[in-house]
Amino acid sequence: MFELLERVNEDAILGLMAKFRADPSGHKVDLGAGVYRDIEGNTPVLECVRAAERAILAGQNTKSYVAAAGRAEFNHAITELVCGPLLQSIGPARLRTVQAPGGCGALRIGAELIRAAAPAAVVHVSDPTWANHVPLLGGSGLRLARYAYYDTARNRLRFEAMLESLDRAAAGDVVLLHACCHNPTGADLAPDQWRAVIEVLGRRRLIPFLDLAYQGFGGGLDADVEAVRLVAKAVPESLIAVSFSKNFGLYRERVGALITVSADAAAADAAYSHVLQIARSIYSMPPDHGAAITAHILADPALRASWLEELAAMRGRIEAMRGLLAAELRARVGDASFDFIGAQRGMFSLLGVPPAVVARLRERHHIYIMGDSRMNVAGVTPGNAAYVADAIVESLGWARAGQPLSGQALSGQALSGQALSGQAPSA
Ligand code: LMR
Repeated sequence: MFELLERVNEDAILGLMAKFRADPSGHKVDLGAGVYRDIEGNTPVLECVRAAERAILAGQNTKSYVAAAGRAEFNHAITELVCGPLLQSIGPARLRTVQAPGGCGALRIGAELIRAAAPAAVVHVSDPTWANHVPLLGGSGLRLARYAYYDTARNRLRFEAMLESLDRAAAGDVVLLHACCHNPTGADLAPDQWRAVIEVLGRRRLIPFLDLAYQGFGGGLDADVEAVRLVAKAVPESLIAVSFSKNFGLYRERVGALITVSADAAAADAAYSHVLQIARSIYSMPPDHGAAITAHILADPALRASWLEELAAMRGRIEAMRGLLAAELRARVGDASFDFIGAQRGMFSLLGVPPAVVARLRERHHIYIMGDSRMNVAGVTPGNAAYVADAIVESLGWARAGQPLSGQALSGQALSGQALSGQAPSA
């Protein structure tokens, strides 16, 4: 039977990771996959995680099954972490949380739940969005559509167009919203913009599905969930997919959770029964180690404090590298066309250059960014920022000098990301 299969394209993010690993260059720079890097370019195990692992290893006396919902203490702790005062204001009876294999697992369970409840619902994702949202959500059989979000030519939100797109969605449709640190653009909604989105969600009876993968990487632990809490309080039903890959550095342990908010306790119970059945039918039970670590850290005051410190250090380093790269580019291009990098949030920004420039960065300078020009700014260090800025400027200059650019016309304006940003996004 396998001879009937046609080869499919490899995943763009994982494919770039493999290309980077295979590059023998001594000065290669990985700005591809979204992993945090320290000043030396490493992705360390957090100290609080090491301490929790030691305690878990010493105290663990069984490897017996957990449950389809995972660890109860983990689910409890992360519900408090994400929901905070929301828990009391809407009442715990409307909330259910299950541990999931990473944020990806949570997104997929959520998609399967939507498919069970409302198979005709369309899931609206931002244009652009994280590449894996499409197969994760669409793989459940749901139809997807895009709402306007970001102007890659001007490096800013298309907020009015976003509201217009959402206004056209049908009642009962689902809207996938990035809770903070938008992937791939780094451009988040301001509080008044969130309020305007909430107004449309309520008026059009749309169901928000919040993807929370970067809590603590944007404005801080509580600041990054303010929007989640506002949205979930304002509408009767919502879903929240949570990942602990980045903020606990537990990428390979696959630890996340799905929180459902239902209109009342009976609906919450029904949704929960489906979530458990979905989990059981896909992977039976989530992996335990990452959740055990997270729960241990959140329950231990000293380890929790040390996690908050390490998280603040990661956030501070990314912010500093944003500022540094923007300054290095400003010094070279002589204008503010890359200042947006310094103002955005989280790990990612879209550089706003065409694919030929992306290829030039990789092939000539061994700098790896995604094909849509998404950069993981966390991969910038004081040691490589000048090299990266030089390479960007050289590659843009090379493109301006008339080298083949996949048929895209170049304006002869200033040497800037704006002038070379490729096609305008569709509405
Ligand atoms: C990314 O966006 O690069 C990360 O979330 C890693 C992944 O799984 O794609």
